[in-house]
Amino acid sequence: MQKPNERLAGQTCIITGANSGIGEAVAHAIGMEGANVVVNYRSRPEEAEEIAHNISQHSKCGDAIAIRCDVSNENEVLAMFKKTIDHFGTVDICIPNAGLQKDAPLHEMSLKDWQYVIDVNLTGQFLCAREAIREFIRRGMRPEISKSLGKIIHMSSVHEIIPWAGHANYAASKGAIVMLMESICQEYAPMKVRCNSIAPGAIKTKINTEAWESQESLNKLMKLIPYKRIGVPEDIGSTAAWLASDESEYINGTTIFVDGGMTCYPGFTQNG
Ligand code: BGC
Repeated sequence: MQKPNERLAGQTCIITGANSGIGEAVAHAIGMEGANVVVNYRSRPEEAEEIAHNISQHSKCGDAIAIRCDVSNENEVLAMFKKTIDHFGTVDICIPNAGLQKDAPLHEMSLKDWQYVIDVNLTGQFLCAREAIREFIRRGMRPEISKSLGKIIHMSSVHEIIPWAGHANYAASKGAIVMLMESICQEYAPMKVRCNSIAPGAIKTKINTEAWESQESLNKLMKLIPYKRIGVPEDIGSTAAWLASDESEYINGTTIFVDGGMTCYPGFTQNG
């Protein structure tokens, strides 16, 4: 169990898709830094409630609640922000993390599956970032709490730059996150908003079970990871906690790759 720290004391953070995988680890890491945490989920409330309960029990000075919301639905996102502000007073950090894959060869991909992935992975991140910025502006600076007006951390992927055959909808959604994140930075950094992305590589979660469930697939995966280990959700949690804190204050408009070197194209080690 991580030792409670207090880099985010007095702040409130919404993490979407926080009832499992990367989102769960991020919620936990942010909670252990003393922030109030909203554990967002769309289905399986019992997981989210348990995570929120666990964070409240172990945090030195923060609290946690679970809120249901489908991030692709505008009214539900508005309601989630309203509930958060009613409960905790404001939002200081927003981590739009909810994401999914609906894989298919492009010539077999239905419009429905294309749209579904774009709605959740891209539009969901837009809606959450927009509401966060509205709240940052409404609330104004609190220099005793943070040097920034607010922080947005988009959960991207190595596939914001690595093309991915059979996953065009997913890769397109992540590629678009780069421009969303950089445009937000350009537009709101003068108001002291920090907007960055984290781009995880292969992290052992339910989304990519196929990539690690057998020794054979794991061996194949290792060819793509120079550091020769699969990532764990905590690798992303610790990065998010630091990126949300004033320790990284001057980092703005960039993507931090947490991928064991996957974006260094290890396929070229003995080729090319
Ligand atoms: C995907 C995973 C994949 C990883 C590396 C992630 O964004 O969701 O399924 O294992 O990228 O390719």
